Amino acid sequence: MNHELIIVLDFGGQYNQLIARRVREEGVYCEVYPYTLSLKEIKAKAPKGIIFTGGPNSVYGDDSPQYDKAIYDMGVPILGICYGAHLMAHQLGGKVETAPVSEYGRTEVDIDNKDGLFKDVSDKTICWMSHTDYISKAPADFTVTAHTSVCPVAAMENRERKLYALQPHPEVMHTVEGKKMLEVFVKDVCGCAGDWQMDSFVENTIANVGKKVGGGKVLCALSGGVDSSVAAVLLSKAVGKQLTCVFVDHGLLRKNEGDEVEAVFGPDGPYDLNFIRVNAQQRFYKKLAGVSDPEKKRKIIGEEFIRVFEEEAKKIGTVDFLVQGTIYPDVIESGIGKSAVIKSHHNVGGLPDYVDFKEIIEPLRMLFKDEVRRAGLELGIPAYLVYRQPFPGPGLGIRIIGDVTEEKVKIVQDADAIYREEIAAAMESGLIPKYGQSGTIGQYFAALTNMRSVGVMGDFRTYDYAIALRAVDTSDFMTAEATQLPWEVLQKVTTRIVNEVKHVNRVMYDCTGKPPGTIEFE
Ligand code: XMP
Repeated sequence: MNHELIIVLDFGGQYNQLIARRVREEGVYCEVYPYTLSLKEIKAKAPKGIIFTGGPNSVYGDDSPQYDKAIYDMGVPILGICYGAHLMAHQLGGKVETAPVSEYGRTEVDIDNKDGLFKDVSDKTICWMSHTDYISKAPADFTVTAHTSVCPVAAMENRERKLYALQPHPEVMHTVEGKKMLEVFVKDVCGCAGDWQMDSFVENTIANVGKKVGGGKVLCALSGGVDSSVAAVLLSKAVGKQLTCVFVDHGLLRKNEGDEVEAVFGPDGPYDLNFIRVNAQQRFYKKLAGVSDPEKKRKIIGEEFIRVFEEEAKKIGTVDFLVQGTIYPDVIESGIGKSAVIKSHHNVGGLPDYVDFKEIIEPLRMLFKDEVRRAGLELGIPAYLVYRQPFPGPGLGIRIIGDVTEEKVKIVQDADAIYREEIAAAMESGLIPKYGQSGTIGQYFAALTNMRSVGVMGDFRTYDYAIALRAVDTSDFMTAEATQLPWEVLQKVTTRIVNEVKHVNRVMYDCTGKPPGTIEFE
């Protein structure tokens, strides 16, 4: 597939993926690379434009990331954002200094020139700023196009050389007219028509995967989550019964989830594929008995998952291709290096070592989550599956604090089902934004604490568990705020859980953000 391409060159900015998503929202395909990508490699990719991200460094720092100056003479439009803007100014003869005061947050920007990037922007516009250094003097051949009360050069451009620099972050929602700025860069300056559409992605992928697989056998680990479901349907459309999907029910799924997955992908569902459901619930409960350390639980579930999958794969014999639901955020390499591992995440990424196969197929490798969802809808996958919230590989195993038993799984399943029902009702009645709409909850679920406490029910003393409800607003799952759910929703959920779920006499709401908390409890 040959698309118009914009390259985001990452200098360690926290918004690298956001920039790429915004460009793709303009219908233009965009890839993120670390700033270590060589000029030769960039040229080989023939981008229509390049965007330099922000970054934590100062251009004068000893280890500050730089780039080959020849990039400015390629004739390819470049937009530098924050650090990227400083770098452009610094390398082309302007001056970058520590600002007398740092600007952080929403800032009013005065537009001085509307001939270029700010064509459709208001004279005064609110932008998101986050910087300590600033451009104090633009290079001689640049026009200053915006300023703030602190920044003499909040934006500059050399339209002839197609070089543009922005101190504010146009990719962030708080920059009210950021979308317009990016649109002008991508469409007017880079001349992109916007040929990145989901229907053609789906069509092309089906054709390409079909060609690649030929008459081969394909194996897919299906979790019922969005990514593996969309990958499986793409493959089934491409190769039909040459595809076998193995779905391991580890007994740590949400209420009725195993049956729901089977209804869609099993023999009575709409898809033409071989579906194997492995009911391994008891195996997992046995392995988990008496184990309460979160990391140990994660390891046990991950390893047992591989064992079960491996046994099934052996029954099928040698397969030619293994399908993985890897998506683009997993592929992007940060410009500055990886951060510390907080939790050992479990997903099918661990499988290849254990299964006899020749090649991996990752049909969603270049898609962001929202694009995976759009591809899912395009493929006719039911909306409730496409908009399913993220669900961790170890499932309810990490939503039961302490040791896991079948009884506890049932308690948390029932409480979670009530919570989900009531959230769905609140979305339906307009109390909270619907899933898929802007401002919707990022993730919500019930967890079982290992705390028991005294309560009273009827005239009797009870000594039962406390359920914790969690709901977070997040776009990237790296940071999150506790959602301010309407009190009436929380009250209804609480009443229903204590009345309907045996062995629960208390419900608590988790108000912690991430950091310092994480989204899951373990
Ligand atoms: P935390 O708890 O680290 O979670 O704030 C961030 C996001 O990742 C999900 N999560 C997982 N996903 N395997 C997964 O595929 C895992 O082991 C795992 N642990 C957490 C979590 O649900 C949230 O969306």
